[in-house]
Amino acid sequence: MKRRMLVAGNWKMNGVAADLAEVAAIADAARDHAGVDAALCLPATLIERATCAAPGFAIGGQDVHQAPSGAHTGCVSAAMLIDAGATLTIVGHSERRDEQCETDGQVRAKAEAAVGAGLAVILCVGESETVRESGSAVATVAAQLDASLPSENHRRLAVAYEPIWAIGTGKVPSTADIAEMHAALRERLVAAYGEVGQGVRILYGGSVKASNAAEIFAISDVDGALVGGASLKAADFIPIIVAGERASPRTST
Ligand code: PGA
Repeated sequence: MKRRMLVAGNWKMNGVAADLAEVAAIADAARDHAGVDAALCLPATLIERATCAAPGFAIGGQDVHQAPSGAHTGCVSAAMLIDAGATLTIVGHSERRDEQCETDGQVRAKAEAAVGAGLAVILCVGESETVRESGSAVATVAAQLDASLPSENHRRLAVAYEPIWAIGTGKVPSTADIAEMHAALRERLVAAYGEVGQGVRILYGGSVKASNAAEIFAISDVDGALVGGASLKAADFIPIIVAGERASPRTST
């Protein structure tokens, strides 16, 4: 099945009003490279202003609460993200699984709340260095995906494979290891959703840069990237969007 590439940036806890010029520059470039989907997942405080600075460009959140509203100090609901202009959100990033002790069950509930409300979702999974070294990365990440997937696909889901040891470190798994993991995740998606699972994009994340993007995008079953550090500046992120478009003879399905 042909899948359109998705290149999404994750600004994490970075970005203030002065950085909106980068958002606008990235959105401008994305308009010129319409063969690929591009998006930026921003701090909640910037989402509304970013949608004004970059009209029509996909702006997302980095997390969402599973409840529609209520006594959850500091949290943001799917309806709030949509109200601010977001069209997507990340769930289950390893930094939240780690720092906020999020479980697979919570990640699944968040994904269900988000897709149910109409947001596209990038659901993150990935193994630690210890698990990779123990030889059980594929089994561990496949089990994590099984336990985190929303029960219905809603066709708005993407999965991001992000080895924790590759995030922000400059280390990237071998091509063979990425291909093996993505093939295993594809199998789990098809087991969960049937043929619809073939249409779910599987992104790679972890130290993606302009210099390695083309090589990563050429790997089978890699349908794009989730990019942290290299998404903060237009000059770093735009070449990754361009590489995504080049790797995308796979036109929209
Ligand atoms: P990185 O982060 O590109 O800075 O490694 C990726 C991520 O955590 O999504």
